[in-house]
Amino acid sequence: MTDERRHAPATERNRDPILAVLREVLPAEGTVLEIASGTGEHVVHFAKALPGLVFQPSDPDPDALASIRAWAVAAKLNNVRPPLLLDAAAADWPIARADAMLCINMVHISPWAATVGLMRQGAKLLPAGGPLVLYGPYVRDGVETAASNVAFDADLRRRNPAWGIRRLEDVVALAAGEGLALVAVEEMPANNLTVVFQRG
Ligand SMILES: C[S@@+](CC[C@H](N)C(=O)[O-])C[C@H]1O[C@@H](n2cnc3c(N)ncnc32)[C@H](O)[C@@H]1O
Repeated sequence: MTDERRHAPATERNRDPILAVLREVLPAEGTVLEIASGTGEHVVHFAKALPGLVFQPSDPDPDALASIRAWAVAAKLNNVRPPLLLDAAAADWPIARADAMLCINMVHISPWAATVGLMRQGAKLLPAGGPLVLYGPYVRDGVETAASNVAFDADLRRRNPAWGIRRLEDVVALAAGEGLALVAVEEMPANNLTVVFQRG
């Protein structure tokens, strides 16, 4: 490809299992804010499958924004908005409200401050009952961590000491402190979880 579209092979494997959960938990209409959209392949896939919703992608990386734009243009969808430059850890976000929020594979590949920002802003932007959906690997108390995730965690921490697979209980406590209640934990392929919170 000569254009700016990037490709992350994992998106082809996880997009349909994630979509199955989204069909259950997203509202029928409104705006879904995606944090850390990366290549933009997820947002285009979900927007095609869920035409009643408007998707607002975002990422702090300018190359990711170019890729998101390119995928959205190629898909010719009228329910994907131009991507926002958005760092989850920032005190101010460039958006005032969202009916639902989605964040795939960011929590372990960013400093903890990004997850703090995600929860804090989720509580501000979402309406009562609005869902915040996370997808990625987590460790859980009393559940043996898959060997592949132990190795992945070590690799993440070697690459950046501020990264690492988070303990689900820590994320849930952080969310609860901001007024976001845990409503579902779904086991996903390749030892990932989809975790759904709802604003009270
Ligand atoms: C592993 S990629 C996941 C991308 C995409 N969601 C996916 O699953 O293919 C991690 C993404 O998190 C973004 N990211 C890192 N730190 C962030 C932060 N503080 N706020 C928002 N996004 C961040 C990166 O720019 C990158 O696009």
